[in-house]
Amino acid sequence: MKDISYHILDIVRNSLNAGARMVEIHILEYSQTGQLVLKIKDNGSGMKEEMINKVTDPFFTTSVKKKVGLGLPLLKQNAELTGGRFSIESAVQKGTLVEAVFNLHHIDMIPIGDLALTFRTLIASSPDTDFLYRYRVDDCGFDLDTAEIRMRLEGVSLNTREVLDYVTDAIHANLKALKGWK
Ligand SMILES: Nc1ncnc2c1ncn2[C@@H]1O[C@H](COP(=O)(O)OP(=O)(O)OP(=O)(O)O)[C@@H](O)[C@H]1O
Ligand SMILES: [Mg+2]
Repeated sequence: MKDISYHILDIVRNSLNAGARMVEIHILEYSQTGQLVLKIKDNGSGMKEEMINKVTDPFFTTSVKKKVGLGLPLLKQNAELTGGRFSIESAVQKGTLVEAVFNLHHIDMIPIGDLALTFRTLIASSPDTDFLYRYRVDDCGFDLDTAEIRMRLEGVSLNTREVLDYVTDAIHANLKALKGWK
């Protein structure tokens, strides 16, 4: 079953394929409206306007290996199934912003999944890319910025067991604190 983490992995992969050096992942929950907003922003090659209109069509892909591109259409579908919405903004040579809004209390809301593992996988597979991970519930939350961690590491690769464990633990600990998870 698809979950939010799976979508993040999928959408960030698009950013990496577009040559992004920096990807921001924002997960913003609002208790008043019961909404979860997922934003993924990159500084990759971007898309032309006519392409933006096509990308939510499941039969559109620029991949030469396959005939369908499902990443964006599936995210759109899962957001809309909860009564939410989906949008893309993009500019050539500047980058892309994908935004999906979910209604958390809708019966078709998908689970959040394992965000710590997703983030770990992304860093391990692209240790030279800068990732900003932001999770907020109303005014509380936390940021994990690999550019900042990289600076503190003074040349040590992010793709080492110790760093990846640190990142996973930090995300788990913060989610626990934020959500009151055991
Ligand atoms: N962040 C992005 N920057 C530039 N182009 C993008 C970005 N995201 C998507 N695209 C373009 O939109 C197309 C469709 O994306 P989508 O994720 O739906 O399918 P896909 O990546 O081609 O295939 P799949 O996700 O199923 O492996 C991509 O092939 C790519 O050309
Ligand atoms: Mg894709």
